[in-house]
Amino acid sequence: METVVSGIRSTGNLHLGNYYGAIQNFVKMQNEYNCYFFIADLHSLTTHPTPADLHGNIKQVLVEYLAAGINPETATIYIQSDVPEIAELYLYMNMNAYLGELERATSFKDKVRANPDNVNAGLLTYPVLMAADIIIHKATKVPVGKDQEQHLEMARTFANRFNRLYNKDVFPEPYAFNYSENLVKIPGLDGKGKMGKSEGEGNAVFLSDSPEIIRKKVMRAVTDSGPTAENQDKPVEIQNLFDIMKVVSSPDTYNHFDNLYNSCQVRYGDLKKQLAEDIIIATTPIREKINDIANDAPYLRQVAKHGAIKARESAQRTIKQVRETIGFRSF
Ligand code: TYM
Repeated sequence: METVVSGIRSTGNLHLGNYYGAIQNFVKMQNEYNCYFFIADLHSLTTHPTPADLHGNIKQVLVEYLAAGINPETATIYIQSDVPEIAELYLYMNMNAYLGELERATSFKDKVRANPDNVNAGLLTYPVLMAADIIIHKATKVPVGKDQEQHLEMARTFANRFNRLYNKDVFPEPYAFNYSENLVKIPGLDGKGKMGKSEGEGNAVFLSDSPEIIRKKVMRAVTDSGPTAENQDKPVEIQNLFDIMKVVSSPDTYNHFDNLYNSCQVRYGDLKKQLAEDIIIATTPIREKINDIANDAPYLRQVAKHGAIKARESAQRTIKQVRETIGFRSF
């Protein structure tokens, strides 16, 4: 059975982008593959969270994984820092990752532009840690959103390079995965780029948002003054709303508003109302479970402990092989 690995950084509540880009696939894949889903708390250290924030955020992602339908009996759910073998593999992989290729990563360049005062080495080697996360379980499929595509390419490069260096087939090649034909990019509500946790107020709809908040955020989304010619291209902010509609609404609803747009009869107020209601329908079953799970400390403790044991079993097998391959031998 093929092995699947994926993770989400513990930097706050999960949003629709995380859900449609990643988690929806996790939930389906857990019944078909040998799955490892983790909370990337080591990755979140690049932005220097306080100890209290760090713990709260890890818990929040764990709770939302479970609320979204990941079954800890079927998939292995764990916290990255509970598996020290990942950090060890990261160290080994860093020896064969080169400054030039790391500096060229789009995500690194974006981070440098956004936070010029915090260009730390962890940011630079972020794709190496991500590769370690994946290859520690010898995964071949990695359910992620479109923004992670380049990181997967780098993971393949690092895995292949290790195999070549030691002339041994230790790691298989991992590929980004989505059940739909293409990897998903969910846009934000601000008329600009993708939905993200740190893209500013009103950009993201969180799985934990109440119906009132969802309605407010969607109604405030940026629009233009409406189409002036039939079948004209949609400007970015309008295309964004249609892109979100494509994943949360029925095809009939999508086609209905698309036809109205193309015949210049669309009323954005109606479109947004429908979009908000469909987001509410999609997120309510998850939101309703979040509180109950968050209050069940013994359950969370048991899930994290059980997941760490299972993840370490697999990680230790790989690390043993990696150490031998590198040439570490006991006396
Ligand atoms: P992170 O925490 O930024 O995002 C988690 C997952 O959500 C997806 N995603 C989106 N998909 C579509 N549209 C969006 N607007 C959107 N925003 C986020 C991301 O593509 C991702 O799948 N580096 C990763 C975490 C990670 C990881 C790994 C993933 C660490 N190690 C190993 C896979 C395998 C990250 O920062 O994702």
